[in-house]
Amino acid sequence: MRLAIVISGGGSNMVAIARACATGQIPAEVAVVISDHAGAGGIERARQLDLPVVVIDRGTYRRNGRLDRQAFEAALEDAIRGHHADAVILAGFMFVLSADFVAPYAGRMLNIHPSLLPRYTGLDTHARVLAAGDQEHGASVHFVTAELDGGPLIVQARVPVQPDDDIAALSARVHAREHILYPMAIQWLASGRLQWNGGRPTLDGRALSAPVQA
Ligand code: GRF
Repeated sequence: MRLAIVISGGGSNMVAIARACATGQIPAEVAVVISDHAGAGGIERARQLDLPVVVIDRGTYRRNGRLDRQAFEAALEDAIRGHHADAVILAGFMFVLSADFVAPYAGRMLNIHPSLLPRYTGLDTHARVLAAGDQEHGASVHFVTAELDGGPLIVQARVPVQPDDDIAALSARVHAREHILYPMAIQWLASGRLQWNGGRPTLDGRALSAPVQA
C-alpha cells in the first residue's frame, strides 16, 4: 500500500507513521507527504526522512480574498494520484475537504482527531476539555467521510486530565498516545485487517460497532 500523508503543521504523527513504515510495522510505504502550508514544520522533518514532499500552499489559492477550493483540491488530487497513493492519511491537516473530494476515497482515507469522538469535533479540543472540567480526554482515528470528524470510528486512546494541566501539558499527553495509535490503525488498514465494508467497518471480520479502546 502506498500512503499519501497530508499535513498542515509540525508533522509529528507523519514522522511516527513514516518510522513505522520504515521498520516494517506498517506494511506500506510513504508515497508522498503533502503540506497545504508552506511554513509547516513537518516539511523539513519529511525531507530529513528522505520522503517525497509536495507543498500546495493554500494561501496561494486565494482569489479576491476567497479560497479557490476547486483549484486547491485539484492540485491535491494531482499530487495524490501523481504519486500513485492508494490511501490518504490526514495527519494534522487543517482543512475540511469537500464531499466530492472525499467520496472516491471511502475506506481509503483516515484522520486522527485529538478528542474522544463524538465529543469535541472541530478545533481547540484541549482548551474545550479543560474549560469543561472533564477528567478524561484522548484521541480517535476514524475513516473520513463528508461529515467533519464524523466518519466511522476505528480506535481511541484515553488519557487522564490532571488537575494542574494546561493546554501544552494535555496536548503533549494526547500527542504521545497518537504516535502509537495512528500507526496501529494504519497497520490494520494496510494489512487488510480493517475493512470499510460499505461504511460498516470490520476489524478481523468483526463489526466495529464501537471503536477499539487502545
Ligand atoms: C494532532 O493532535 C492531530 O490529532 C490533530 O492535529 C495534530 C497534529 O499534530 N488532527 P502533528 O502535526 O502530527 O504533530
